[in-house]
Amino acid sequence: MSTVSAANAESEPTRLPGEPILPEARMHVILPTAPVNGKVVHSKLCTKSKSASFVRHVCVDVSGTPLEGSWVAGQSFGVIPPGTDANGKPHKVRLYSIASPGYGEDGFGKILSTTCKRLLSEREPQTVKDDPTEHRLFIGMCSNYVCDLREGDTIPVAGPAGKRFILPTDRNAHDYLLLATGTGIAPFRGFIHELFVGPPAGSPLHATWRPCTSRVHLVMGTPYTSDLIYDDFFRQVAKQHTNFAYHTAISREARLDGGKGEYIHHYLDRTLPQFDELLRNERTLIYICGLAGMQVGVFQTLAQRGLHGGFLDVQAELAGIPPQEWTPEQMKRRVHATRRCMLEVY
Ligand code: FAD
Ligand code: A2P
Repeated sequence: MSTVSAANAESEPTRLPGEPILPEARMHVILPTAPVNGKVVHSKLCTKSKSASFVRHVCVDVSGTPLEGSWVAGQSFGVIPPGTDANGKPHKVRLYSIASPGYGEDGFGKILSTTCKRLLSEREPQTVKDDPTEHRLFIGMCSNYVCDLREGDTIPVAGPAGKRFILPTDRNAHDYLLLATGTGIAPFRGFIHELFVGPPAGSPLHATWRPCTSRVHLVMGTPYTSDLIYDDFFRQVAKQHTNFAYHTAISREARLDGGKGEYIHHYLDRTLPQFDELLRNERTLIYICGLAGMQVGVFQTLAQRGLHGGFLDVQAELAGIPPQEWTPEQMKRRVHATRRCMLEVY
């Protein structure tokens, strides 16, 4: 039930081959300074099995608020925990990716969901001024607030936010490589739902929805198999749609073939023949979501294999330097994702 149009296509500069036309996503319908109350209607752990991480699939009913029907898959929404911080100021907004399709969990755009991971850690110095011996428990403010909420509780929300990490207007005009680490899987749940599952019977969009005919590869990276999120869902969809492939890259477990654990870019590199044609094809879009820094290995791998054309703009200064030797500073200044490569890292 998202309100979308291809209006921004006209105002964009010349489009290069394969660049997507994105729908115009609505933004900041609700500002964080004046949040509305949503209601938690569902909260469930969503890791594959017993995991050292606590990640919850949390559904929020926003019906009757301006947020109803306002988002598209891939956008985020804001949570503003009630109360004040240590300085007596209202808590600042935290963003969470929407894990629902644009028509929501319900098919009517009334219920959105997210994939919230509790931030629990030992305290580590964040600045040079911090005491390096301090190591008491660090409990993230908002993630634990969200994960503690129970069905029926209210939650102050704002948004939606983000206008680029979304699916193109014509889904069948592109193929897709979706790369996630951890909760970066959230927007891809919404994408895959929208591309292959569709709105439930009763939804006004049900009759006209058709499954996507494009090739979609999703690669999900987690420390352990038990940390995989929405794993059953993706496996089920992959079973039903031969044009959707679900891959996992587990970093801290030995592989079945005896090889050592790997990050998503190691997986891409190791199994390159299955992605080679996809990555050479102008139709393909890459979406990368999750840990800040995860794009570095992906970009270097693509460049190393000569597959970055159309996805990365690499400035001439780096010509002749092997991609694996690019420094973080060089990558920040001299390597930029094109409009065929969407990034959402945090
Ligand atoms: P805070 O209380 O804000 O603490 C985090 C801050 O504390 C850090 O910025 C850091 O400065 C500091 N800190 C962190 N670790 C330590 C430590 N060990 N010792 C001392 N200080 C430390 N999160 C999700 O779970 N799911 C999502 O789908 C999701 N989507 C996002 C989408 C976007 C676009 C963005 C920008 C972020 C997203 N996040 C998501 C992250 C989310 O917004 C919060 O940053 C996260 O939940 C932590 O917030 P918090 O309030 O719990 O932690
Ligand atoms: P590891 O933690 O073993 O270093 P989660 O958010 O559930 O912790 O999952 C994040 C996943 O991403 C983990 O498997 C983590 O591996 C992996 N990871 C960490 N750093 C990078 C990176 N720079 N590029 C790709 N994957 C990464």
